[in-house]
Amino acid sequence: MKYHIITYGCQMNESDSERVSSFFQENGLLEGDEEEADVIIFTACSIRQSAIDRVIARGKEIKKKKEKPVTILTGCVLEEDKKSLSSIFDYILDINDLPHWPLPFLSKSSKQYFEIVPKRNGISAYISIMTGCDNFCTYCVVPYTRGRVSCRPTKEVLKEVEEAVEEGHKEIWFLGQNVNAYKEELTFGELLKETNKIKGDFWIRFTSSHPNDFTDDMIEAMKNCKKVTNYLNLPVQSGNDEILKKMNRPYNISEYKKIITKVKEEVPDVFISTDIIVGFPGETEKHFRSTLNLFNEILFDMIYIGKYSPRKQTVAYKMKETVSPSEKKRREKVLNELLKESNLEKNKQYIGKKLKVLVTNSNSKGLLVGKTKNYKSVSFKGSKKLIGSFVDVKINDYSLWGLKGTKIS
Ligand code: SAH
Ligand code: SF4
Ligand code: F3S
Repeated sequence: MKYHIITYGCQMNESDSERVSSFFQENGLLEGDEEEADVIIFTACSIRQSAIDRVIARGKEIKKKKEKPVTILTGCVLEEDKKSLSSIFDYILDINDLPHWPLPFLSKSSKQYFEIVPKRNGISAYISIMTGCDNFCTYCVVPYTRGRVSCRPTKEVLKEVEEAVEEGHKEIWFLGQNVNAYKEELTFGELLKETNKIKGDFWIRFTSSHPNDFTDDMIEAMKNCKKVTNYLNLPVQSGNDEILKKMNRPYNISEYKKIITKVKEEVPDVFISTDIIVGFPGETEKHFRSTLNLFNEILFDMIYIGKYSPRKQTVAYKMKETVSPSEKKRREKVLNELLKESNLEKNKQYIGKKLKVLVTNSNSKGLLVGKTKNYKSVSFKGSKKLIGSFVDVKINDYSLWGLKGTKIS
């Protein structure tokens, strides 16, 4: 039997799909293309309506096929959506129950979910350190699809890192909806420091962090631990205090700016990315301008912009939408233009610099592509054998979204 997995959403879902893959292989199934698969697993995301609509469309397409594979829907699915989705997919199954999924071709395992060793890609290892979220931002489905916060024991996490490094992974990604709220034997800052002590040549990244749980410990780790990367994703969501309040984000812009100033002062060449929602109910032009002002002050290296999408089961779902779809689009574009301008200016400064790059892939032009320690994209000419290794590159050109160079080692 062959299986095929289609993954949507964030790295948490990528990580879940790696465990699904490993469990199916343990049961003797082989990975195959969509066309030849007997079972198709959808790891869904519900963060915006458009994300779940894509899953529905794919599911419906497959349902029309003559020889229809078994379809399984898992990942982040809202309770209220399950009824309508059950007419499209054969099974809707909870990811945490993976070892006990009631499928005729899987034997039930006595293992717990996290005891299944994921089938990783050999370069970047995604390691969930916590699942769920207790923050209940008013727009967000995550507390409903992934439940309350649960942190994995520190020993278990460190063991998983050691295994991944032994397998040759060069990048450890600690994942969680709010990694800096991690609290077990160690706090998150301590976990970073402990991971840094593990022998081997690898980088440590983490996402996402919440401004409210940000500690100086994390700055220290980014500054002093050689393996911890100078990359920080710190979602701000809006540049306006009134909107933040309506979003149930428990910090204000002056507090957020204080954190960023400190990080920039302490951590050399730090790359800062953020998430911003445009068109939240009640967001006026004036509120949006505060977000633009914040951008101009901080000059984020990357923004993940989301056009507000009302989600069932959330508090904001009951708020009246005041921003039209075309206005959301315009606000997204304005922010994007600012980002592009500032990126071009920043990328220019890299010309002539030597940077260490972790090669992760090759692109359609046959160039190798990878990331620097601070998560800048770099492309250069080289043998595909270099994929998965660190290479020194001299930068001699740049574009909007990245740097170009030549290999020097
Ligand atoms: N835990 C992280 C982010 C999780 S979701 C945090 O708190 O920052 C990833 C991003 O999706 C969010 O940061 C937010 O910008 C966006 N998002 C979440 N719900 C959304 C919605 N209803 N509409 C549009 N964007 C949304
Ligand atoms: Fe969603 Fe907020 Fe939790 Fe992030 S912190 S996952 S945005 S509820
Ligand atoms: Fe989506 Fe679930 Fe991640 S809703 S953003 S896949 S936690």
